[in-house]
Amino acid sequence: MRVLVAGGAGFLGSHLCDALLGEGHNVLCVDNLITGREDNLAHLTNESRFEFKIQDISQPFDFGKVEYVYNFASPASPVDYMEHGVETLQVGSFGTFHCLEYAKKYGAKFFMASTSECYGDPEVHPQVETYWGHVNPIGPRSVYDEAKRFSEALTMAYLRYHKVDTHIVRIFNTYGPRLQVNDGRVISNFMKQALTGEDLTVYGEGQQTRSFCYVSDEIEGILRLAKSDEHLPTNIGNPNEFTILECAKKVLEVTGSKSKIKHEPLPQDDPKQRRPDISKAKRLFGWEPKIQLEEGLKLSLEYFKKAVARTAVAK
Ligand SMILES: NC(=O)c1ccc[n+]([C@@H]2O[C@H](COP(=O)([O-])OP(=O)(O)OC[C@H]3O[C@@H](n4cnc5c(N)ncnc54)[C@H](O)[C@@H]3O)[C@@H](O)[C@H]2O)c1
Repeated sequence: MRVLVAGGAGFLGSHLCDALLGEGHNVLCVDNLITGREDNLAHLTNESRFEFKIQDISQPFDFGKVEYVYNFASPASPVDYMEHGVETLQVGSFGTFHCLEYAKKYGAKFFMASTSECYGDPEVHPQVETYWGHVNPIGPRSVYDEAKRFSEALTMAYLRYHKVDTHIVRIFNTYGPRLQVNDGRVISNFMKQALTGEDLTVYGEGQQTRSFCYVSDEIEGILRLAKSDEHLPTNIGNPNEFTILECAKKVLEVTGSKSKIKHEPLPQDDPKQRRPDISKAKRLFGWEPKIQLEEGLKLSLEYFKKAVARTAVAK
Protein backbone atom coordinates (compact mmCIF):
# COMPACT_ATOMS: atom_id res chain seq x y z
CA MET A 1 0.00 0.00 0.00
CA ARG A 2 0.94 3.66 -0.33
CA VAL A 3 0.17 5.20 3.06
CA LEU A 4 0.30 8.77 4.32
CA VAL A 5 1.52 9.56 7.82
CA ALA A 6 0.68 13.11 8.91
CA GLY A 7 2.99 14.19 11.75
CA GLY A 8 5.52 11.56 10.68
CA ALA A 9 8.55 13.61 11.76
CA GLY A 10 7.40 13.48 15.38
CA PHE A 11 8.14 10.96 18.09
CA LEU A 12 5.31 8.47 17.46
CA GLY A 13 4.85 9.30 13.77
CA SER A 14 8.47 8.47 12.96
CA HIS A 15 8.22 5.11 14.74
CA LEU A 16 5.01 4.47 12.83
CA CYS A 17 6.77 5.26 9.52
CA ASP A 18 9.47 2.70 10.45
CA ALA A 19 6.87 0.06 11.33
CA LEU A 20 4.86 0.62 8.13
CA LEU A 21 8.02 0.45 5.99
CA GLY A 22 8.87 -2.74 7.90
CA GLU A 23 5.54 -4.18 6.76
CA GLY A 24 6.49 -3.47 3.14
CA HIS A 25 4.38 -0.35 2.49
CA ASN A 26 5.40 2.83 0.66
CA VAL A 27 5.25 5.68 3.15
CA LEU A 28 4.55 9.33 2.41
CA CYS A 29 5.31 11.39 5.49
CA VAL A 30 3.99 14.95 5.77
CA ASP A 31 4.87 17.30 8.57
CA ASN A 32 5.26 21.05 9.11
CA LEU A 33 8.00 20.48 11.73
CA ILE A 34 6.26 22.66 14.32
CA THR A 35 7.32 20.19 17.03
CA GLY A 36 8.87 17.38 14.98
CA ARG A 37 12.43 17.04 13.71
CA GLU A 38 13.83 15.86 10.37
CA ASP A 39 16.49 14.14 12.46
CA ASN A 40 13.87 11.58 13.48
CA LEU A 41 13.77 10.50 9.82
CA ALA A 42 17.49 10.80 9.06
CA HIS A 43 17.90 7.01 8.96
CA LEU A 44 15.35 6.84 6.09
CA THR A 45 17.22 9.18 3.73
CA ASN A 46 18.20 6.36 1.38
CA GLU A 47 14.96 4.41 1.68
CA SER A 48 13.36 4.36 -1.78
CA ARG A 49 9.90 3.53 -0.40
CA PHE A 50 9.91 6.65 1.80
CA GLU A 51 8.95 10.21 0.80
CA PHE A 52 8.95 13.29 3.04
CA LYS A 53 7.02 16.49 2.29
CA ILE A 54 6.89 19.62 4.39
CA GLN A 55 3.19 20.44 4.65
CA ASP A 56 0.92 22.09 7.19
CA ILE A 57 -2.14 19.82 7.17
CA SER A 58 -4.30 22.66 8.50
CA GLN A 59 -4.08 23.81 4.86
CA PRO A 60 -5.60 21.67 2.07
CA PHE A 61 -3.21 19.21 0.37
CA ASP A 62 -3.21 16.48 -2.25
CA PHE A 63 -0.24 14.20 -2.92
CA GLY A 64 -2.10 11.68 -5.08
CA LYS A 65 -3.65 8.34 -4.30
CA VAL A 66 -2.97 6.61 -1.00
CA GLU A 67 -4.68 3.61 0.58
CA TYR A 68 -4.37 4.61 4.24
CA VAL A 69 -4.17 7.98 6.00
CA TYR A 70 -2.74 8.07 9.53
CA ASN A 71 -3.24 11.39 11.32
CA PHE A 72 -0.58 11.79 14.01
CA ALA A 73 -0.08 15.53 13.50
CA SER A 74 -0.54 17.71 16.57
CA PRO A 75 1.61 19.34 19.19
CA ALA A 76 1.30 16.73 21.94
CA SER A 77 3.13 17.73 25.09
CA PRO A 78 1.71 20.36 27.48
CA VAL A 79 4.74 22.61 26.81
CA ASP A 80 4.14 22.42 23.06
CA TYR A 81 0.37 22.78 22.93
CA MET A 82 0.37 25.64 25.45
CA GLU A 83 2.93 27.47 23.30
CA HIS A 84 1.02 26.67 20.07
CA GLY A 85 -2.56 26.78 21.39
CA VAL A 86 -4.25 28.12 18.27
CA GLU A 87 -2.23 25.87 15.92
CA THR A 88 -3.23 22.90 18.09
CA LEU A 89 -6.91 23.76 17.71
CA GLN A 90 -6.38 24.29 13.98
CA VAL A 91 -4.66 20.95 13.39
CA GLY A 92 -7.28 19.13 15.47
CA SER A 93 -10.08 20.69 13.41
CA PHE A 94 -8.93 21.80 9.93
CA GLY A 95 -6.04 19.30 9.90
CA THR A 96 -8.23 16.32 10.71
CA PHE A 97 -10.84 17.60 8.25
CA HIS A 98 -8.26 17.77 5.42
CA CYS A 99 -6.98 14.27 6.24
CA LEU A 100 -10.52 12.87 6.24
CA GLU A 101 -11.36 14.62 2.95
CA TYR A 102 -8.17 13.18 1.47
CA ALA A 103 -9.12 9.67 2.63
CA LYS A 104 -12.64 10.12 1.25
CA LYS A 105 -11.38 11.35 -2.12
CA TYR A 106 -9.17 8.28 -2.67
CA GLY A 107 -11.34 5.70 -0.87
CA ALA A 108 -8.54 5.27 1.70
CA LYS A 109 -8.88 4.08 5.28
CA PHE A 110 -8.31 6.63 8.03
CA PHE A 111 -6.65 6.36 11.42
CA MET A 112 -6.88 9.07 14.09
CA ALA A 113 -4.32 9.40 16.87
CA SER A 114 -6.43 10.63 19.76
CA THR A 115 -5.52 10.75 23.40
CA SER A 116 -6.33 9.81 26.96
CA GLU A 117 -6.69 13.59 27.49
CA CYS A 118 -10.20 13.14 26.07
CA TYR A 119 -11.04 11.79 29.54
CA GLY A 120 -9.77 15.04 31.15
CA ASP A 121 -9.39 14.74 34.93
CA PRO A 122 -11.33 11.48 35.08
CA GLU A 123 -13.91 10.55 37.69
CA VAL A 124 -13.88 6.95 36.48
CA HIS A 125 -10.83 4.84 37.13
CA PRO A 126 -9.31 3.09 35.24
CA GLN A 127 -10.61 4.84 32.12
CA VAL A 128 -12.80 2.70 29.94
CA GLU A 129 -13.69 3.79 26.39
CA THR A 130 -17.38 4.24 27.21
CA TYR A 131 -16.55 6.97 29.78
CA TRP A 132 -17.30 10.41 28.27
CA GLY A 133 -14.70 12.28 30.25
CA HIS A 134 -14.40 15.24 32.60
CA VAL A 135 -12.83 18.05 30.61
CA ASN A 136 -12.68 21.76 31.38
CA PRO A 137 -13.65 23.19 27.95
CA ILE A 138 -12.05 26.59 28.59
CA GLY A 139 -9.04 25.78 30.79
CA PRO A 140 -5.41 26.06 29.61
CA ARG A 141 -5.36 22.40 28.48
CA SER A 142 -8.58 22.77 26.49
CA VAL A 143 -6.70 23.73 23.30
CA TYR A 144 -5.49 20.14 23.15
CA ASP A 145 -8.27 18.19 24.88
CA GLU A 146 -11.10 19.80 22.93
CA ALA A 147 -9.17 19.67 19.65
CA LYS A 148 -8.84 15.91 20.07
CA ARG A 149 -12.47 15.51 21.14
CA PHE A 150 -13.48 17.44 18.02
CA SER A 151 -11.19 15.22 15.89
CA GLU A 152 -12.95 12.16 17.29
CA ALA A 153 -16.39 13.65 16.57
CA LEU A 154 -15.33 14.54 13.00
CA THR A 155 -13.89 11.07 12.44
CA MET A 156 -17.15 9.45 13.60
CA ALA A 157 -19.09 11.81 11.31
CA TYR A 158 -17.04 10.73 8.25
CA LEU A 159 -17.71 7.12 9.18
CA ARG A 160 -21.44 7.72 9.58
CA TYR A 161 -22.13 10.21 6.78
CA HIS A 162 -19.43 9.42 4.20
CA LYS A 163 -18.73 5.74 4.95
CA VAL A 164 -14.98 6.33 5.31
CA ASP A 165 -13.44 3.29 7.05
CA THR A 166 -12.12 5.00 10.19
CA HIS A 167 -10.30 4.00 13.37
CA ILE A 168 -9.54 5.99 16.53
CA VAL A 169 -6.88 5.19 19.10
CA ARG A 170 -6.77 6.86 22.51
CA ILE A 171 -3.07 6.86 23.26
CA PHE A 172 -1.94 6.96 26.88
CA ASN A 173 1.46 8.38 27.93
CA THR A 174 4.06 6.82 25.66
CA TYR A 175 7.83 7.19 25.90
CA GLY A 176 10.99 5.91 24.29
CA PRO A 177 13.76 7.00 21.91
CA ARG A 178 13.00 10.20 19.90
CA LEU A 179 10.80 11.68 22.62
CA GLN A 180 11.81 15.35 22.69
CA VAL A 181 14.06 16.11 25.64
CA ASN A 182 12.56 19.52 26.36
CA ASP A 183 8.89 18.79 25.94
CA GLY A 184 8.03 18.81 29.63
CA ARG A 185 6.55 15.29 29.62
CA VAL A 186 7.21 13.25 32.74
CA ILE A 187 9.77 10.78 31.40
CA SER A 188 11.70 13.26 29.27
CA ASN A 189 11.79 15.77 32.13
CA PHE A 190 13.02 13.24 34.67
CA MET A 191 15.57 11.71 32.28
CA LYS A 192 16.98 15.11 31.34
CA GLN A 193 17.15 16.26 34.95
CA ALA A 194 18.70 13.00 36.14
CA LEU A 195 21.32 12.98 33.36
CA THR A 196 22.32 16.61 33.89
CA GLY A 197 22.44 16.32 37.69
CA GLU A 198 19.51 18.72 38.22
CA ASP A 199 16.86 18.02 40.87
CA LEU A 200 13.86 16.10 39.54
CA THR A 201 10.71 18.27 39.59
CA VAL A 202 7.70 16.55 41.10
CA TYR A 203 4.45 18.53 41.12
CA GLY A 204 2.50 18.49 44.38
CA GLU A 205 3.27 15.54 46.62
CA GLY A 206 3.82 13.34 43.55
CA GLN A 207 0.94 11.07 44.53
CA GLN A 208 -0.87 11.64 41.20
CA THR A 209 -0.55 8.50 39.11
CA ARG A 210 0.35 7.85 35.50
CA SER A 211 0.91 4.77 33.41
CA PHE A 212 3.67 4.72 30.83
CA CYS A 213 3.72 2.68 27.63
CA TYR A 214 6.95 1.87 25.82
CA VAL A 215 6.88 3.01 22.18
CA SER A 216 7.24 -0.42 20.53
CA ASP A 217 4.22 -1.70 22.48
CA GLU A 218 2.19 1.38 21.53
CA ILE A 219 3.00 1.06 17.83
CA GLU A 220 2.17 -2.65 17.85
CA GLY A 221 -1.25 -1.87 19.38
CA ILE A 222 -1.84 0.91 16.84
CA LEU A 223 -1.07 -1.38 13.90
CA ARG A 224 -3.38 -4.08 15.21
CA LEU A 225 -6.20 -1.58 15.68
CA ALA A 226 -5.55 -0.16 12.19
CA LYS A 227 -6.08 -3.63 10.71
CA SER A 228 -9.15 -4.40 12.81
CA ASP A 229 -12.82 -3.75 12.05
CA GLU A 230 -13.23 -1.58 15.15
CA HIS A 231 -14.43 1.99 14.50
CA LEU A 232 -15.05 3.23 18.04
CA PRO A 233 -12.22 4.74 20.11
CA THR A 234 -9.89 2.14 21.61
CA ASN A 235 -7.43 2.66 24.46
CA ILE A 236 -3.84 1.64 23.82
CA GLY A 237 -1.53 2.15 26.78
CA ASN A 238 0.14 0.37 29.62
CA PRO A 239 -2.21 -0.18 32.59
CA ASN A 240 0.60 -0.52 35.15
CA GLU A 241 0.18 2.52 37.34
CA PHE A 242 2.94 4.41 39.15
CA THR A 243 2.81 7.52 41.28
CA ILE A 244 4.92 10.31 39.82
CA LEU A 245 7.16 10.00 42.86
CA GLU A 246 7.74 6.28 42.20
CA CYS A 247 8.51 7.08 38.59
CA ALA A 248 11.08 9.72 39.61
CA LYS A 249 12.77 7.14 41.84
CA LYS A 250 12.87 4.58 39.01
CA VAL A 251 14.56 7.12 36.73
CA LEU A 252 17.16 7.85 39.41
CA GLU A 253 17.80 4.12 39.75
CA VAL A 254 18.13 3.42 36.01
CA THR A 255 20.35 6.43 35.32
CA GLY A 256 22.39 5.96 38.50
CA SER A 257 21.98 9.70 39.07
CA LYS A 258 22.69 11.46 42.36
CA SER A 259 20.01 14.11 41.69
CA LYS A 260 17.47 14.89 44.42
CA ILE A 261 13.71 15.30 44.14
CA LYS A 262 12.15 18.78 44.52
CA HIS A 263 8.43 19.52 44.85
CA GLU A 264 6.58 22.33 43.02
CA PRO A 265 2.89 23.38 43.05
CA LEU A 266 0.48 21.33 40.93
CA PRO A 267 -0.39 22.97 37.57
CA GLN A 268 -4.06 23.81 36.86
CA ASP A 269 -6.25 20.88 35.70
CA ASP A 270 -3.43 18.37 36.17
CA PRO A 271 -5.16 14.95 36.14
CA LYS A 272 -4.81 13.11 39.46
CA GLN A 273 -5.07 9.64 37.99
CA ARG A 274 -4.61 8.23 34.54
CA ARG A 275 -4.69 4.57 33.69
CA PRO A 276 -6.16 2.78 30.67
CA ASP A 277 -8.59 -0.07 30.83
CA ILE A 278 -7.24 -2.15 27.94
CA SER A 279 -9.67 -5.05 28.12
CA LYS A 280 -11.20 -4.01 24.78
CA ALA A 281 -7.86 -4.13 22.90
CA LYS A 282 -7.10 -7.48 24.54
CA ARG A 283 -10.47 -8.91 23.58
CA LEU A 284 -10.59 -7.52 20.02
CA PHE A 285 -7.08 -8.16 18.79
CA GLY A 286 -5.18 -9.83 21.62
CA TRP A 287 -2.94 -6.86 22.34
CA GLU A 288 -1.25 -6.08 25.63
CA PRO A 289 2.05 -4.33 26.40
CA LYS A 290 5.13 -6.45 27.01
CA ILE A 291 7.72 -3.93 28.20
CA GLN A 292 7.45 -2.59 31.73
CA LEU A 293 8.74 0.73 33.01
CA GLU A 294 12.18 -0.27 34.23
CA GLU A 295 13.01 -2.16 31.02
CA GLY A 296 11.62 0.66 28.87
CA LEU A 297 13.71 3.23 30.72
CA LYS A 298 16.80 1.11 30.19
CA LEU A 299 15.97 0.78 26.48
CA SER A 300 15.62 4.58 26.26
CA LEU A 301 18.73 5.48 28.23
CA GLU A 302 21.24 5.63 25.35
CA TYR A 303 18.94 7.87 23.33
CA PHE A 304 18.42 10.28 26.23
CA LYS A 305 22.15 10.42 26.98
CA LYS A 306 22.89 11.43 23.37
CA ALA A 307 19.94 13.84 23.18
CA VAL A 308 20.91 15.57 26.43
CA ALA A 309 24.55 15.88 25.25
CA ARG A 310 23.37 17.31 21.89
CA THR A 311 21.17 19.88 23.66
CA ALA A 312 24.09 20.91 25.88
CA VAL A 313 26.35 21.40 22.83
CA ALA A 314 23.64 23.37 21.03
CA LYS A 315 23.36 25.70 24.04
N1 LIG B 1 3.33 10.60 22.99
C1 LIG B 1 2.26 10.43 23.72
O1 LIG B 1 2.36 9.98 24.87
C2 LIG B 1 0.88 10.70 23.15
C3 LIG B 1 -0.22 10.50 23.99
C4 LIG B 1 -1.49 10.73 23.50
C5 LIG B 1 -1.67 11.13 22.18
N2 LIG B 1 -0.60 11.32 21.38
C6 LIG B 1 -0.86 11.78 20.00
O2 LIG B 1 0.00 11.15 19.09
C7 LIG B 1 0.38 12.07 18.06
C8 LIG B 1 1.90 12.15 17.99
O3 LIG B 1 2.40 12.64 19.23
P1 LIG B 1 3.96 12.71 19.54
O4 LIG B 1 4.14 12.38 20.95
O5 LIG B 1 4.70 11.95 18.51
O6 LIG B 1 4.21 14.28 19.37
P2 LIG B 1 5.28 15.05 18.45
O7 LIG B 1 5.15 16.50 18.77
O8 LIG B 1 6.62 14.42 18.59
O9 LIG B 1 4.74 14.76 16.99
C9 LIG B 1 3.70 15.47 16.40
C10 LIG B 1 4.11 15.80 14.97
O10 LIG B 1 3.02 16.49 14.31
C11 LIG B 1 3.59 17.55 13.55
N3 LIG B 1 2.54 18.56 13.33
C12 LIG B 1 1.89 19.30 14.26
N4 LIG B 1 1.02 20.13 13.65
C13 LIG B 1 1.10 19.88 12.32
C14 LIG B 1 0.44 20.42 11.19
N5 LIG B 1 -0.48 21.39 11.28
N6 LIG B 1 0.76 19.94 9.96
C15 LIG B 1 1.69 18.95 9.83
N7 LIG B 1 2.36 18.40 10.88
C16 LIG B 1 2.06 18.87 12.11
C17 LIG B 1 4.75 18.04 14.39
O11 LIG B 1 5.68 18.81 13.69
C18 LIG B 1 5.32 16.72 14.89
O12 LIG B 1 6.27 16.20 14.00
C19 LIG B 1 -0.27 13.40 18.39
O13 LIG B 1 -1.44 13.55 17.65
C20 LIG B 1 -0.58 13.26 19.86
O14 LIG B 1 -1.70 14.03 20.22
C21 LIG B 1 0.68 11.13 21.84
